[in-house]
Amino acid sequence: MKGSVIYHSRYGNCKQIANAIFEGLKESGQDVTLADVGTLSALPKDLEFVVVGSPTRAGHASGPIRKFLKKVDGPPLKFAAFGTALAKWLPKGDATAAEGISKILKEKGFIEIVPPLRSGVAGRKGPLAEGELEKAKAFGKAVAAELASDRASAPPAAAPPAAAPQGDGAKPAE
Ligand SMILES: Cc1cc2nc3c(=O)[nH]c(=O)nc-3n(C[C@H](O)[C@H](O)[C@H](O)COP(=O)(O)O)c2cc1C
Repeated sequence: MKGSVIYHSRYGNCKQIANAIFEGLKESGQDVTLADVGTLSALPKDLEFVVVGSPTRAGHASGPIRKFLKKVDGPPLKFAAFGTALAKWLPKGDATAAEGISKILKEKGFIEIVPPLRSGVAGRKGPLAEGELEKAKAFGKAVAAELASDRASAPPAAAPPAAAPQGDGAKPAE
């Protein structure tokens, strides 16, 4: 499927995560591009899915990603969210960019296909915590597997056909 990994990164950590997700998607055969949000004025045309991420800023997604997402007005695509945050705060369950992005896109009717990925950094400028690049690549592969399955796009179970009117009320054909 055709998609894009769109990210913002101030110090380069989220960019590395975006690139690892991109690699995971590409290795799984997805037709995917990688884009720094600063190079985009709108969602690229004809996408079927997006993977969006940013660093965490005061518990939210970063300004450039929020500004970009504010302008997005469909069509509602399948999506997955990710973000970097201080590793020492992650176990406490503090809000991060990943959940923030997920919430914004869900409110726009986008369809989340896997839970958000939270990647830890050791300090404000990094580096990434150990194992985060491997997890990000696996996340890309998990997104691809979900896209390849019918789960993300299956229509709701069909309702049984309505019974044809019988007897009363039905006018006999002339
Ligand atoms: C102004 C500012 C606010 C931040 N607020 C948070 C925060 O609320 N929670 C958190 O986990 N990390 C916070 N961080 C640390 C970022 O998570 C970290 O800088 C970022 O993930 C690194 O990603 P990048 O290299 O792609 O910019 C903050 C950093 C800055 C500069």
